Amino acid sequence: MPATIAGAHEEGVDGVVVVGAGVVVVDGVALVGATVVGALDAEVEGTVVVPVAVGPAAGGAEEQAVTTDVTAAARTAHRAMDGRRRLWLGRIVRAYPRTPVVPSGAASATDRYVAAVTTEPTPIVLDVDTGVDDACALLLAALHPALDLRAVTCVGGNAPVDDVVRNTLLVLETAGRTDVPVGRGAERPLLEPPVDARHVHGDDGMGDLGWPPAAMKADPRHAVELLRDVCREAAEQERPVTLVPLAPLTNIALLLRTYPDVVSGISEIVFMGGAANVGNATASAEFNVFHDPEAAAIALDAAADLGIPVTMYGLDVFYEPVVSAELADELVSVGGRGPAELAGSLIRFQNARFDRPASTIGDAGAVCVVIDRAGIRTEPLPLRVELAGTWSRGRTIVDRRDWSGDMAHDPHGEAPVRVDVALEVDGPRYARLWADTVLGRVGER
Ligand code: BDR
Ligand code: CA
Repeated sequence: MPATIAGAHEEGVDGVVVVGAGVVVVDGVALVGATVVGALDAEVEGTVVVPVAVGPAAGGAEEQAVTTDVTAAARTAHRAMDGRRRLWLGRIVRAYPRTPVVPSGAASATDRYVAAVTTEPTPIVLDVDTGVDDACALLLAALHPALDLRAVTCVGGNAPVDDVVRNTLLVLETAGRTDVPVGRGAERPLLEPPVDARHVHGDDGMGDLGWPPAAMKADPRHAVELLRDVCREAAEQERPVTLVPLAPLTNIALLLRTYPDVVSGISEIVFMGGAANVGNATASAEFNVFHDPEAAAIALDAAADLGIPVTMYGLDVFYEPVVSAELADELVSVGGRGPAELAGSLIRFQNARFDRPASTIGDAGAVCVVIDRAGIRTEPLPLRVELAGTWSRGRTIVDRRDWSGDMAHDPHGEAPVRVDVALEVDGPRYARLWADTVLGRVGER
């Protein structure tokens, strides 16, 4: 019973149509066997995506009565579409305005996919110092259907901030996300001169891949003002964002101290930084916290003051989700200067630089936490940032003692800040989530 929705997109944009293998979803109604005229994206052959008006222009009551089960429609479409097309389905359902339809006890890969694309996506903002592994994180945040990437802000860290902005724009454009505003932020730490990590990330900060720069431009707002605006807007919409800092916390400290009202637009902070155990920049300290310890201390103190829950995805888990050289080759072989090729090239760069057979997805693990929190085990632990110390400046001192003892004998007392510290991760699970997403195969395996 093919139906035709001719010119529907001309009527206004308050609904969404997805076509895949004869399944169309119109504002909560699945039309099976419909045809859409007026594709906005002709590039994806056989799959068209058209914003439509709800009501008579969307095909009429007869067609809308075919099924109202969005989940079933998504399931059918998922089975029928190849990897690249699935991304498009995800992107469209992400914009979908209605109440989520989530299968209970979702177990199979298809169920997980359907849950991802029919659940209201989580608004998210990344603060980055791109950065090979920041690029991995950006690809995941830009492409996974369970996330609604609202903005990306940049800070000097792995590379000088202008290089970070250039790299970030390239990643987002490669992912087809030129709609995401990118803000240039702090050039240097609050107190000390900047250092970089080009010995880790390459001269350009992102693996020296030699890809041409993006045509996309940065937002004119400073990162702190962009963050402020996005958080305030999220508060108005009553859809607070998850803030995911993957870099020195300079922008975040400035934001929370300058505009504390943004708290109502932030649901939680999941940051990459710190460690309960060993460091990397020094024997004691992790790079992001070491680079700007005052900013880390201020950001964590402000979050505690404002009541923002914080999860620390630190070095205790950072190195565990790894991608093999074979999988990197598979990603690169997709070609076309798309997300998979970029993702594979970033892993290859790390393998070569450190002479390893596999490399971590790094910062992308913190984005995995937002999508799939069950992949980590955390403990709420008191935490301080070491601001002095001869050999330990920038260390996160995570208090793992059993406080059933006599606290009165510790002259420091318990730290006023408590953070959910990630102590274990299911590395293969996060690595698979990342690779499936950049391949456009979310939920396939
Ligand atoms: C962190 O520092 C940077 O080099 C990486 O991008 C990551 O955010 C690891 O210590
Ligand atoms: Ca980083």
